[in-house]
Amino acid sequence: AFRAGAKEQALPLPPLLKDQNTSEGITAYTITARTGHTEFIRGKQAETAGYNGAFLGPVLRMKKGDEVTVKVNNQLGEATTVHWHGLEVPGSADGGVYGKIADGTSWQAQFKVDQPAATAWFHPHLMHETGKQVYKGLAGLIYIEDDESTKLAIPRTYGEDDFPLVLQDRMLTEDGQMPYKLTDADIMYGKMGGTQLVNGAVAPTLTIPKGLVRLRVLNGANARIYTIKLSNAQFFWQIASDGGFLPKPVQVKELELSPAERAELLVDAGSLHTGDIFFLQNGGDKLMTFKVGKDAKETYGVPESLVEPERLKPEKAVKRRQFVFGGMGKYVNINGKQMDMNRMDERVGLNTVEIWEISNPSAAGMSMSHPFHAHGVQFQLLSRNGGPPPANETGWKDTIHLRPDERVEAIARFRKPGVFMYHCHILEHEDAGMMGQFEVK
Ligand code: C2O
Ligand code: CU
Ligand code: CU
Repeated sequence: AFRAGAKEQALPLPPLLKDQNTSEGITAYTITARTGHTEFIRGKQAETAGYNGAFLGPVLRMKKGDEVTVKVNNQLGEATTVHWHGLEVPGSADGGVYGKIADGTSWQAQFKVDQPAATAWFHPHLMHETGKQVYKGLAGLIYIEDDESTKLAIPRTYGEDDFPLVLQDRMLTEDGQMPYKLTDADIMYGKMGGTQLVNGAVAPTLTIPKGLVRLRVLNGANARIYTIKLSNAQFFWQIASDGGFLPKPVQVKELELSPAERAELLVDAGSLHTGDIFFLQNGGDKLMTFKVGKDAKETYGVPESLVEPERLKPEKAVKRRQFVFGGMGKYVNINGKQMDMNRMDERVGLNTVEIWEISNPSAAGMSMSHPFHAHGVQFQLLSRNGGPPPANETGWKDTIHLRPDERVEAIARFRKPGVFMYHCHILEHEDAGMMGQFEVK
């Protein structure tokens, strides 16, 4: 619901960060992690953090094949790391728990963009501190484009017909502050709050063109699972999941997104009228308002087909591994173990194909949802609960939602060398130790 005292405001659009290209062939970015103040409630300044700004960060746009450097300056007053969630990059550039950047220092990540067009993101990943730092506001988006994405007849003009929507929830105090203190319930379920933010704003309004509109939605919450829908009974066409386009658009009335999952959606406002208003909702709660503006500059139809990914064949798999979620509260674990930097949990052959069986059995009547995520790799679902995956999970996935008693078989080719993490993306579970590491070599 709307929070009393919230400012009325337009949807903030994160800046598209310009490539500060210096030497030939290198796409160079600089981001600075810093603290700041954000007015979520009128007249109240919360202490927050962001990349370049006071809350959240810019969009880094890259193209497949680019050689990229990202210089990260840390001005947070404490150590951090920056992890490129969804990017298939070597462990040395991944920014997981080993990418520690001491306060007042810089780190440069260097990698080649070597995967299809997708909407990915970046956020801190320091051992035991990820939840707090993301909650403060440290997160930004990465857009990868490629020759196929730029040829598709779909909206692609940033801020005109192609909009990022970062969904987050926060617990604000009466005086508009946003402390990261964990109650027993937060330790159990992850940190949630009753104030819903979209791109860092409470219940913002976006004027969209009368036509086809593309929304790139990230569940950037620490723990909340969203079920998004539109108030005017309109449906979405989902065109992409975490790691890229789906083979064809999938019509969805309601879309569940667990933390860290992304979905690109088309909304057809072409048959509405200028001045019409509708809402994006999480279940019955309003997240933001869409207002239909003037005719779109470009007219698009919903395409029949998108991009058919190369299918990984189960018979190519050299190994099957099991990952079983267990425990509650501070005892959450994977395969009965909690994260230990001195223990390598899994060793995977470089460029081999494996099938990972991930399951979330309920035990002693206790059950909870957990989103499974692994670094440096994109998966294809072979099955969900023994049956074929739903249509909107037939593309590349790096975050897989497991509801209680669910199980998934996911196949991947491990193309990048190095040490990577796999973990639950409820950040308080990750911080408590629901994480392991694997080495690809
Ligand atoms: Cu979003 Cu380990 O990552
Ligand atoms: Cu990740
Ligand atoms: Cu979890």
